Amino acid sequence: MNKPALEGGNPVRMTLLSFSPPDIQNDEIESVISVLKSKWITTGKKCAEFQRALSSYTGARHAVVLNSATAGLFLSLKIAGIKEGDEIITTPYTFAASVNVIIHTGAKPVFADIEEDTFSISPEEIIKKITHNTRAIIPVHFAGHPVDIDAICEIAKHHNLTIIEDAAHAIGAEYKGKKIGNGEQKSVFSFHAVKNLTTAEGGAVTTNDDDFAGQLKLYSLHGQTKDAYSKLLVGGWKYDIAVPGYKFNMTDIQAAIGIEQLKRLDENRKKRALIAKQYSDLLKKYNFVKTPEAKKEITHGWHLYPVIIDFSRLKTDRDTFISALGAENISSNVHFIPVHTMSYYRNNFGYKPLDFPRAYNTYLNEISLPIYPQMSRNDIDDVKEAISKLFTFYKK
Ligand SMILES: Cc1ncc(COP(=O)(O)O)c(C=O)c1O
Repeated sequence: MNKPALEGGNPVRMTLLSFSPPDIQNDEIESVISVLKSKWITTGKKCAEFQRALSSYTGARHAVVLNSATAGLFLSLKIAGIKEGDEIITTPYTFAASVNVIIHTGAKPVFADIEEDTFSISPEEIIKKITHNTRAIIPVHFAGHPVDIDAICEIAKHHNLTIIEDAAHAIGAEYKGKKIGNGEQKSVFSFHAVKNLTTAEGGAVTTNDDDFAGQLKLYSLHGQTKDAYSKLLVGGWKYDIAVPGYKFNMTDIQAAIGIEQLKRLDENRKKRALIAKQYSDLLKKYNFVKTPEAKKEITHGWHLYPVIIDFSRLKTDRDTFISALGAENISSNVHFIPVHTMSYYRNNFGYKPLDFPRAYNTYLNEISLPIYPQMSRNDIDDVKEAISKLFTFYKK
């Protein structure tokens, strides 16, 4: 039998396959160089152009670019008037940023467990968590699979709650034929280095709400009534500070990358979907594996490919399996370590792992496989071969 490299055998490939490298091409490089030579490198014309492009891509009336999704989530909560004493419902199955921002407003994060099929927040669980202090819901489109927006909107409408969508994984994804971030909700995208569209670091909020968009712009740059670019124009030196704002603006260097990335987004999403299909075609043959599925009414963004493996059927555990894949030179990851198990949240809110059993049990058995548009036919085959090899070797 072909032994795993972890057990002294030869690896499936000789060089490490990265987990999620950015897809940076000449267009991005040339565009950045041209900004660097332009004598204007911070927030200016390129940010405005990127905002217009995002707005036209998503269909939202406004897109406001920022330095991160974290800034976008925080600002959106602040502008929605969230303050101490309020409760915000979100999922524990997310990156900490979705929850930390609630703490920063002084409000209390309240977790609702996830659905077993999409790993996204469950509308039924949200209902159970609503109190007279609940003000908002932050649903997360986990892995790029949109949440059940209609169900969550109905709950929000009934209880007069604000929805701030954490769409960090979901640029390009669709729900019932409409793009995530089409402006009906307040949607927050991340353009962090590993995301489907990257600006190295960055984010954006899309909305149809004119006042909300205006407040986002105002608060994202000190509360100044004029941005730095407008101040440079002849006679433009005068400005006021209307509110004590923050420093969350994007630079033109980042926007230049984003504009080029956006042009390839749909093509790249299709490449991701093809990789997902190839993985699923293989993994479905193993009855101890649960593959990620796209519900009928959605278009998946395939930011991640999360697989659930029943390790009780194998002579190994999840963490050793990840090391074994690594020894085969295949990078993998875990999404996510549930936020309620992190020490800050345990110590301050007294959470136990099984307070949210679906999130915790999903975490224990989850592995995210590499999925990105630059993966070659050979790269995909290597991942499949490594998994088959490990399943054969470790099968009970
Ligand atoms: C679900 C989710 N929300 C928010 C964020 C924060 O994004 P950013 O790094 O752009 O602030 C991330 C980043 O990984 C994320 O995965």
